[in-house]
Amino acid sequence: MIRHKKRKRGVASESAKVRKSAPEWEKGAHAEALRSRIEFIKLITGISTHFINLSVDRIDEGATYALQRIGEFAAVDRSYIFRLYDDGKKMDNTHEWCADGIAPHIHRLKGLSAEEFSWIMSTLKKGQACYVPRVADLPPEAAVEKAEWQLEGIQSLICVPMISRGKVIGFAGFDSVRQEKAWDEDAIALLKIVGEIFSNALERKQAEETLRESEARYRLLSEHLEEKVGQKVAELEQAQSLAAIGKMVSVVAHEVRNPLQGIKMGVDVLHAEIGEDASKAETMAGIDHAVNLLNSIITELLEYSKPVQLRHSVCSVGALVDESLKVLAHKLQNITITLELNEREREMTVDSAKITAVLVNLISNSIEAMPDGGQLRIQSRSCEEKGRNVLKLSIVDSGCGIAEKDLPAVQEPFMTTKIRGTGLGLPICRKIIEAHKGSMRIRSKLDEGTTVEITLPFSSPGDPPCSVKDS
Ligand SMILES: Nc1ncnc2c1ncn2[C@@H]1O[C@H](COP(=O)(O)OP(=O)(O)OP(=O)(O)O)[C@@H](O)[C@H]1O
Ligand SMILES: [Mg+2]
Repeated sequence: MIRHKKRKRGVASESAKVRKSAPEWEKGAHAEALRSRIEFIKLITGISTHFINLSVDRIDEGATYALQRIGEFAAVDRSYIFRLYDDGKKMDNTHEWCADGIAPHIHRLKGLSAEEFSWIMSTLKKGQACYVPRVADLPPEAAVEKAEWQLEGIQSLICVPMISRGKVIGFAGFDSVRQEKAWDEDAIALLKIVGEIFSNALERKQAEETLRESEARYRLLSEHLEEKVGQKVAELEQAQSLAAIGKMVSVVAHEVRNPLQGIKMGVDVLHAEIGEDASKAETMAGIDHAVNLLNSIITELLEYSKPVQLRHSVCSVGALVDESLKVLAHKLQNITITLELNEREREMTVDSAKITAVLVNLISNSIEAMPDGGQLRIQSRSCEEKGRNVLKLSIVDSGCGIAEKDLPAVQEPFMTTKIRGTGLGLPICRKIIEAHKGSMRIRSKLDEGTTVEITLPFSSPGDPPCSVKDS
């Protein structure tokens, strides 16, 4: 079935049927052809069984081994597999076996355009083998193929399609370099079975790889999901415990406020009785100051533990900033203030009392960070963010700054570096800003200064869609 022009090995091209009337030499040739065909069938069956038992990780190795066994049996010089990409437009030489002394080409034959090799591909795509007894005799339509095959020194070749679910996914080829080689129909039919075996094995490999990939993806996804759920549960627990603390704080604060009120009244009465006694007056002033401080701490605690109730009104960034600076005027002597407010009169709908409180808190922090004076810059601009018109308001100081590692901590409740601080200023500011559907971001550099940037929507959530009202 496979005829070699000069070699003895191989299978004869004649039909295996031995006619009784044939001469003795002819009977011998038929018997040899039959034996060779049986050997070939046995080889193919062995390869098929081998692939079935092969683990997916070893299929590539198995394919190269099968190419070698078939190549050696059929006495060709090079055997190989080409795989088409999923879109069928390009192809790679993925496996190759070469007889001793024959140059490999696998490294070169990657990403070839299937369209350029349309002559061979059109035959393979019909599910037929492409058999070229003499490369030199190829027609002009096969010019690309001829040039490539002559470059590889091929004299004859045969390629069989690898088909999966009715689609050509590649092909297996067998080159004769040293001499021409003829293949008969029986041999070609058997080679087509080889193509099917390769395609089954390689498709099994790809299917298992895809399965492994999607398994890995789902595992990752479920791990991620678990992590996220864990995070959310922790957040919920924290929120629940914060809510419980908040409730407790408000009860305690109310309880403390009444006796404090009593102390304050007592201090006032005693103050009147002390008269001219300076040292007693000083002690009384100390008590008075401490009571006032306790009162303000309790006010802040109550503020922080309550949900924020907003009372919206129309105002402008200019008015809000002016009002806050007025409240703090007595503390601003050593501070150089620069206002850079774009669209300072543009109307916005916010709870102006609460936003003023936020600005007073933030500017107070800046003043306290510059005990020997410094620069305070207040800047504003408007922009569009996530489909909303927003105001970006920055309070920039040249104060002591905050170390990068301390930035998250200083934003936590009760975290203060001040003797008379509560550590509730920033958390309250954030709470108010977030109630306005805005955000607050702090950037700082130790010994250089701090910038607090507030983002606030111009309109409140209940307003009709944003329109720019410039004045
Ligand atoms: N502009 C700033 N420059 C440097 N440090 C700052 C600045 N703003 C805040 N901090 C740091 O963050 C801490 C927490 O600030 P926060 O306003 O929450 O509380 P506080 O100012 O300490 O106390 P309170 O505001 O209740 O009087 C401050 O103690 C301070 O260390
Ligand atoms: Mg503060």
